[in-house]
Amino acid sequence: MDDQNGLKEAQVVVVMVPLPLQSHLNQLLQLSRLISSYNIPVHYVCTTTHIRQAKLRVHGWNPLDNANIHFHELSTPAFICPPPNPNASIQYPSHLHPLFEAITQFRQPIAAIFHALSSTAKRVIIIHDSMMASVVQDITCIPNAESYMFHSLSAFSTFLYFWEKMGKPFPVDAKILQDLPSQEGCVTPEIAEFVHTQVNYWNFSSGYLYNSCKAIEGEGVFIDLLAREEITQNMKQWAFGPFNPVEVCDEKKPSDQRHKCLEWLDKQVPNSVIFVSFGTLTSLSDEQIKELAIGLERSEQKFIWVLRDADKGDVLVGETRRPQLPKGFEERVEGKGMVVRDWAPQLQILGHESTGGFMSHCGWNSCLESISMGVPIAAWPMHSDQPMQTMLVTNILKVGLVVKDWARRQELVSSSTVETAVKRLMASKEGDDMRKRVVEMSGAVKRSVEEGGVSRMELDSFMAHITRS
Ligand SMILES: *[C@@H]1O[C@H](CO)[C@@H](O)[C@H](O)[C@H]1NC(C)=O
Ligand SMILES: *[C@@H]1O[C@H](CO)[C@@H](O)[C@H](O)[C@H]1NC(C)=O
Repeated sequence: MDDQNGLKEAQVVVVMVPLPLQSHLNQLLQLSRLISSYNIPVHYVCTTTHIRQAKLRVHGWNPLDNANIHFHELSTPAFICPPPNPNASIQYPSHLHPLFEAITQFRQPIAAIFHALSSTAKRVIIIHDSMMASVVQDITCIPNAESYMFHSLSAFSTFLYFWEKMGKPFPVDAKILQDLPSQEGCVTPEIAEFVHTQVNYWNFSSGYLYNSCKAIEGEGVFIDLLAREEITQNMKQWAFGPFNPVEVCDEKKPSDQRHKCLEWLDKQVPNSVIFVSFGTLTSLSDEQIKELAIGLERSEQKFIWVLRDADKGDVLVGETRRPQLPKGFEERVEGKGMVVRDWAPQLQILGHESTGGFMSHCGWNSCLESISMGVPIAAWPMHSDQPMQTMLVTNILKVGLVVKDWARRQELVSSSTVETAVKRLMASKEGDDMRKRVVEMSGAVKRSVEEGGVSRMELDSFMAHITRS
């Protein structure tokens, strides 16, 4: 750090406080990589178990190689850790309620870390998940600290949330509001209460951060709407996503170091494989697994299917259910399809030229990774913000189609619905058009994060702001 700004930069430290769920852990870990590349030390704070999980699962780079990222492990509080219930009528993973209750215990140890850092740095910048606002509230007692709130969803979903909350202060294009999904069934009452509590502590932020960019959010419409005074009251905001790497260097490692599904993809023709994965917070019922399996088989398309149960509150302890496939399924689809039970390298799979479609729950990480890699989506929302992101991907961006209609969320998705959706995405003119659009969008996203691109300039602007003298 011999450049002329070195001294100033060394006096600023950044602290990341993620929500301890995979998709949130990952976004702030990816952001740590971006910020540390400006020669600013980043302190990533979470429990021992969740830090271990985040490091194990990150793809595209190795956090251990980065000397500018420091991990602060909080001792993991004791909480009960039941298995997910694949038969629940609301698919939000209610087995995580005890983890959400345990989060309040992070407040004191995190405050102690803030205090320690504030005594040695000129300025402490805290970047926290919007769902950790109550946990970091003690920063208001630290004179040289300022905090920035990270919204882990699309600007589209976040805007509509604020717009409703503010009493719809101005009209928005009717096309945006058409067919908006019901909020019913998105979360359990306990989680709605948790969110409500966090929102009460959204009052000490110095700015909002988004893992998104204009190239993704309807040509910037939703980011601009979020910036309107009626919505965020002139709060400063920056959108410099996607945080995930946008190029996968498939360095052709020796085959014993590559996941077996990448080896399998090498043998397929371009855009011929659909990747099926519903993220870390979904458990499918036995009946639903059966319908999906039959639908995939009948579509006669190649597939990689990640079949796992939802994460438990602590993914490192105890047994997990092994979801059952119909009898003889794996033998019948041999050569056509592959079922993966372990952690799959999603970014590399999406970045592989043989992958031509993604059947996804539309969690925001998955949407960003799919769009970055130019892969169209067959949307199957499960809970939370996923029905909203389904709208964005299908109705607005037109880079995907719907498999699961949220209005019929209590019903099983039949094998024939699966079959039709897979064929439409992988083997029709309509699917080809979506693929063309998403490849163009991917190009725009890649340019956006390069030197001089819109996302990179936003990140430069944020870095200049937090290191200002
Ligand atoms: C879910 O329901 C099926 C029957 O439809 C039953 O066999 C299974 O044990 C149930 N699983 C759990 C975890 O309750
Ligand atoms: C923010 O809100 C919390 C909870 O409602 C309250 O206790 C606190 O005093 C408020 N802080 C500021 C800076 O307004």
